[in-house]
Amino acid sequence: MTLWAGRFSQGMDETLWDLSESFSFDHVLYAHDIAGSMAHVRGLEAAGLLSGEECSTLLATLTAIKEEFETGRFVRADGDEDIHMAIERRATELAGPVGAKIHTSRSRNDQVATTLRLFTRDAVGQVARQCLTLVATLVAVGEANPNAYLPGYTHLQRAQPVLLSHHLQAHAWSLLRDVDRLLDARDRLNVSPLGAGALAGTSLPIQPTVTAELLGFREAFANSMDAVSDRDFVAETLFDIALVGIHLSRMGEELVLWTTSEFNFAVLGDDFTTGSSMLPQKKNSDVAELARGKSGRLVGNLTALLVTLKGLPLSYNRDLQEDKEPLFDSVRHVLLVLRALEGAYNSLQFRTDVAAAAADDQLLVAIDIAEALVAEGIPFRQAHEVAGKFVGEAVRSGESLQNVVRASTYGERFDALFAPGAALGNRKSPGSSGTGAAALQASRLRSQLDALRAQLG
Ligand code: ARG
Repeated sequence: MTLWAGRFSQGMDETLWDLSESFSFDHVLYAHDIAGSMAHVRGLEAAGLLSGEECSTLLATLTAIKEEFETGRFVRADGDEDIHMAIERRATELAGPVGAKIHTSRSRNDQVATTLRLFTRDAVGQVARQCLTLVATLVAVGEANPNAYLPGYTHLQRAQPVLLSHHLQAHAWSLLRDVDRLLDARDRLNVSPLGAGALAGTSLPIQPTVTAELLGFREAFANSMDAVSDRDFVAETLFDIALVGIHLSRMGEELVLWTTSEFNFAVLGDDFTTGSSMLPQKKNSDVAELARGKSGRLVGNLTALLVTLKGLPLSYNRDLQEDKEPLFDSVRHVLLVLRALEGAYNSLQFRTDVAAAAADDQLLVAIDIAEALVAEGIPFRQAHEVAGKFVGEAVRSGESLQNVVRASTYGERFDALFAPGAALGNRKSPGSSGTGAAALQASRLRSQLDALRAQLG
């Protein structure tokens, strides 16, 4: 029998049940739902709606139910439509008559909104923490190869040599912004909807601020209808996770490229690669491909929720139940990818010789020649043309750029620029990839990492 049987003369059709039940996926919310119920019960006591003894009984009952879930002993009953009803049903079984008071001045509408905010608050913290771990890994891998450099690319064409640490830190900065965004979302969602009731509050003397404080929310809702119908926090979290996923997919694509025979800049550890069922020689970078591939579902989950929310009238509508699976899925999969990439980067062996040889491609010295001319007082456009002509001649003749320059009126004047890695030593502008600028960037990154860690708590 359902909790609302009083109004109905017939039970629910089986198809409707299958369509509407959510216990099969929302049972993962049990701990957050129980935390919300405990605060609610305390709030009822503070409002004089439960005696001290009734409150203690219900709190002990909720603790017992939590243990049942944790030890796999909780048994779903036939009428348990969702996690909220399952817990209330069980509380009534265990606590006796006082169980019937637990849902006083509460609706599943404010209950589910509270539970989901508590879950999301934790999940956002987990994702942010795992992002910071990956940032630390990227920094450490760069530090382990302090002199390594590779070609930096634009349009996937060799552009200028860059330090490996600088390259990896470029990814780290994007993840730090992701963490900043997640923390920002966490602060915004940290508002309690508990006490909003079904949509309009209650005539009973509860104080939403009491439960808000017990649950560690920054404040209680100001508008009950907004409180039960707002899922902005889920959308925002899904966006933030999707963007993390997109950053991870770019890193994945890069690892795929780096580990090809064509690039050959790096080799993944055997423990982070897979073989082929047919081709014995294969060593595949599936971890990187999945990092790239998972971003599709993360964007899909965001899209699914946005479309669900679009056009919904105030306040609660059952459509909102569709908020959960995209959220659970995105949290689960982004955490998987973050952990897998952490392992993949740790297992990566850099072929620093191959990468350096590619970066020492003489054509990449063209800009350094142009800048050396600028330093001598020649306007940049003219310097660009001089260097461009050398490049054109080298490409047409098949002669090395250095030999072309040597054969010109400049003779051996620019020879030092052709020394391996010379550009990295010469490059000094703040934020650039040069040995001179590296320390400043590293310290800026470290202080941002520390600041976000502290904020994360
Ligand atoms: N399982 C529901 C959800 O996830 C709980 C709220 C149900 N409220 C209702 N009025 N039917 O949204």
